[in-house]
Amino acid sequence: MAKISINLATGTLQKAEIIVGIDLGASNSLIAFIDPDRNPKVINDTGKGHLMPSIVHFDAAGVPLIGNEARALLITDAANTVLSQKALLGRPENELPQNQVYKPLQVTTEILKELKKRAEHALKTPVNKAVVTVPSYFTDSQRMATRNAGRLAGLDVIKIVNETTAASLTYGIGLDPMDQKTIAVYDLGGGSFTVSVMRIHNGIFEVLSTKGNSFPGGDDFDRTILNYWIDKNNLDAASTAATPSLMQQLRLKAEEAKIALSTQNIYNEKLGEIWCTLDRQTFEQLIAAMVTDTINLCKQAIADAKLTTAAIDDVLLVGGSTRTPYVKAQVTELFGKQPNEQINPDEIVALGAAIQADIMDGNRSFISLPDEDMYKEPAPSSAAAQRMLDQARAEGEQLAYLAGQFIERHRFVLTSMDISGTREILDKLRAALSQDDTDMIRSLTTELNEFTRPFASRLLKPS
Ligand SMILES: Nc1ncnc2c1ncn2[C@@H]1O[C@H](COP(=O)(O)OP(=O)(O)OP(=O)(O)O)[C@@H](O)[C@H]1O
Ligand SMILES: [Mg+2]
Repeated sequence: MAKISINLATGTLQKAEIIVGIDLGASNSLIAFIDPDRNPKVINDTGKGHLMPSIVHFDAAGVPLIGNEARALLITDAANTVLSQKALLGRPENELPQNQVYKPLQVTTEILKELKKRAEHALKTPVNKAVVTVPSYFTDSQRMATRNAGRLAGLDVIKIVNETTAASLTYGIGLDPMDQKTIAVYDLGGGSFTVSVMRIHNGIFEVLSTKGNSFPGGDDFDRTILNYWIDKNNLDAASTAATPSLMQQLRLKAEEAKIALSTQNIYNEKLGEIWCTLDRQTFEQLIAAMVTDTINLCKQAIADAKLTTAAIDDVLLVGGSTRTPYVKAQVTELFGKQPNEQINPDEIVALGAAIQADIMDGNRSFISLPDEDMYKEPAPSSAAAQRMLDQARAEGEQLAYLAGQFIERHRFVLTSMDISGTREILDKLRAALSQDDTDMIRSLTTELNEFTRPFASRLLKPS
């Protein structure tokens, strides 16, 4: 007889299996599930926190240590402590850094194993299935490598979702289904930037456009600070770079300074004899060009979606780097509105992955997401193209009808040139309409308007 037990951790009847949602980040990874009240929740495994640094340390015997414990070894054992492997995952061997001992797949597998372990510990149930998020620009081989890492970690990755899509899902489940929202998701994490323009209506999540890459991210902010200090302290760049533990210490100090400057105006510390001083204004000058890069990508994404910033109802901030006030200010300026900060930017992706897991479990059937298991060319968006065609058709058909009627009604007062010229353009316009040729419809609509305007306005003038 099948046994039904009650899960003490979740307070629900023990289901055959639980599907978790995982945000596999370059800096931090999170694992989330749906709680008994049907809300997505990030797992906080006793005392270890929600965010698990995506850092792995291997000891001499090859035994891995993951997360904060590994982070603590960055300085003392930099050579055996690996971070930010995400960008390298699924890349061909010849694109990996030379002499790299620990392979990205191996490192990612250890991170997933640890997440699985923490989830099983917190939920008191086996965890074998997961939805995992990836950046929208991840290629098919990178998506495949993510699945493989899952398999090696004992997790069947039943679905891959783009990070920004997952974030929009967390936001979207709180909406009135009839409410149509066009949103921009601005995700600046540790190792990448992505912006997606999405439309949500009736439970349908549609990606209108997306732009992104593994540059810039918060790691790049840290790097510019580090270089600035090397310069200010007159250190020899080459020999500093050749000393891994010094580099790690400087890098960690740089990150600390950056985070401090999100809430204060000056950071002033020393590392041995090295002055680590930075004020907010200098920091903003150091990162300005990178932030401008992200703003330009936002502009391109909005243009690809054939929209203007005014058409964006809400801007979601995702990723730890959006806590930098300068970043927030630039985003606010571009969109002309305060971003929506209702949802924690660290957790929004993982929560969305958990909601997707719930959908895969047969719940929330009213939600429809794009299929992102395979990489998609982001532009041109077919949805945007269809909208442009619909709009051109509406205008073209209306004008063709009115112009046709007009020359019939006024055929005795119009010149034969007016009539034959109009008919000629009308024929071409009708052909373009039957072929769904957006550009041709547009240009013939304009031509017909211009050709008929002189005599139409003369005849329609009130006498
Ligand atoms: N208060 C803060 N102010 C500025 N930056 C911060 C703050 N807190 C965290 N960060 C930065 O956010 C970055 C990590 O963000 P996040 O955890 O969202 O990245 P990730 O999801 O792991 O990366 P990716 O999405 O690129 O894979 C790091 O560079 C970190 O230094
Ligand atoms: Mg992220």
